[in-house]
Amino acid sequence: MITIQDLKFKTFLNKEQIRERITELATQINHDMAGQNPLFLGILNGSFMFLSELFKQINVSCEVSFLKVNSYHNMASSGKIRELIGLSTPIEGRHVVIVEDIVDTGFTLDFLINTLQKGNPASIRTITLLHKPSAMKFDHKIDYLGFEIENKFVVGFGLDYNGYGRNSEEILVKAD
Ligand code: IMP
Repeated sequence: MITIQDLKFKTFLNKEQIRERITELATQINHDMAGQNPLFLGILNGSFMFLSELFKQINVSCEVSFLKVNSYHNMASSGKIRELIGLSTPIEGRHVVIVEDIVDTGFTLDFLINTLQKGNPASIRTITLLHKPSAMKFDHKIDYLGFEIENKFVVGFGLDYNGYGRNSEEILVKAD
């Protein structure tokens, strides 16, 4: 058992499982995107560890940049307002790859795709280390998926609980 703040977690995916899956994903991307000069857009904060492991194994000509999505509740409505920060590289005509740590409901991904689309990229692909299909509220295709997981709370390998737990090399699941 590993305690993070007030919660207890246990190992869900170990280092070896994560490393092997990332190698498989990188191999697929190297095959699919050769000659496309992709621009990887890492979504902060959670994707930093996944992106760094993945990126070391990408061997096609490519660039990387980082974006942040700020979410806050609108006082006037219950809806969440989202704002994209950090898009400094022009994406017109580029093959863009959104790199996420986890796709849960898909609201963040939907916002990212709709916002990036306005910059007229040649294509938008998505890669996420984790996905909770039962929580997904949109039908966006995830092009490269590390692991499908149940609708349970996970931390580690970049993912946090109240800001903590990101430094775990394993992915941990909340213990029942
Ligand atoms: P979505 O917009 O509902 O798909 O959620 C995306 C964001 O919610 C992720 O980028 C994470 O920051 C956070 N999130 C969703 N599920 C988890 C989880 O199990 N652990 C940690 N963060 C999560």
